[in-house]
Amino acid sequence: MALTARPLHPLFAAEISGVDFSRGVDPETFEEIRVAVHRYGVCVFRGTGLTDESHIALSRLFGELEQAPRFSIARRRFRYPELFDAGNLDPDGNILSDERRRMYNKGNQLWHTDSSFNQHRSAYSLLLAHEVPPVGGDTHFADMRVAYEALPEDRKAQIEDLVAEHWLWHSRMLAGYPEPTEEEKREKPPARHRLVQLHRESGRRTLYLASHASHIVGWPVEEGRRLIRELIEFATQPQFCLAVQWHGPGDLIIWDNRCTMHRATPFEDVRYRRDMRRTTVYEAVDH
Ligand code: OGA
Ligand code: MN
Repeated sequence: MALTARPLHPLFAAEISGVDFSRGVDPETFEEIRVAVHRYGVCVFRGTGLTDESHIALSRLFGELEQAPRFSIARRRFRYPELFDAGNLDPDGNILSDERRRMYNKGNQLWHTDSSFNQHRSAYSLLLAHEVPPVGGDTHFADMRVAYEALPEDRKAQIEDLVAEHWLWHSRMLAGYPEPTEEEKREKPPARHRLVQLHRESGRRTLYLASHASHIVGWPVEEGRRLIRELIEFATQPQFCLAVQWHGPGDLIIWDNRCTMHRATPFEDVRYRRDMRRTTVYEAVDH
């Protein structure tokens, strides 16, 4: 099956059509999707008709799936541990009123890439809409290869060998979530990753950046924090960013976490329902 890719931005991202998700994706079509994700960084598919089961099955073609963490605050809504909850509903399907959970979700409104706080990185995320609000709740994206290539040469030289420490609780606290509990800290210790990486599948160099990045290893904390802030600001200038609107249930976005950042945006979350479910695929271990 030949896919059609319509670019959504001059520098990255495409809307892909021509995939019939109702029959399961055959190997040739899957290979075309994979190639498109590596090329564009972000691929949008409209009205896929995917269910929890077929969403997970499609995701498994990309590799091994992460399981959502089991924090005491987040009683699971889903039968499958592979589904991460990016919506605003409680386990009974009502709009969340728990302040702590709402704060936790607010962390998604900071620019990030998924799971950079894990030492074993995530390669891809597949976010599927089940219910979307009538206004607001777009998802924003930026391509970190584009950002890297646009950096001044002296900046590239300065950051070439730097390593950043990423900690889930850093971004959560930036978003107003309280100091993590001992259990939370144990469950998600920090991880370290090089700031500049090669994105092998496209052969382009990229920034590996996120609001989870708390400091630069071997640098005074405040200085590292300032550099991370400056790089995120540089990488997410308006001309580098894309807003994707969710049209309705079945819309799917697949992105490559190794070369993009994204963020959730506000909507009237105490008024409208937003049910979004995500699978997250580990980077292959031979990388
Ligand atoms: C995510 C995420 C953004 C959104 O699921 O990883 O950041 O708009 N979602 O829900
Ligand atoms: Mn995310």
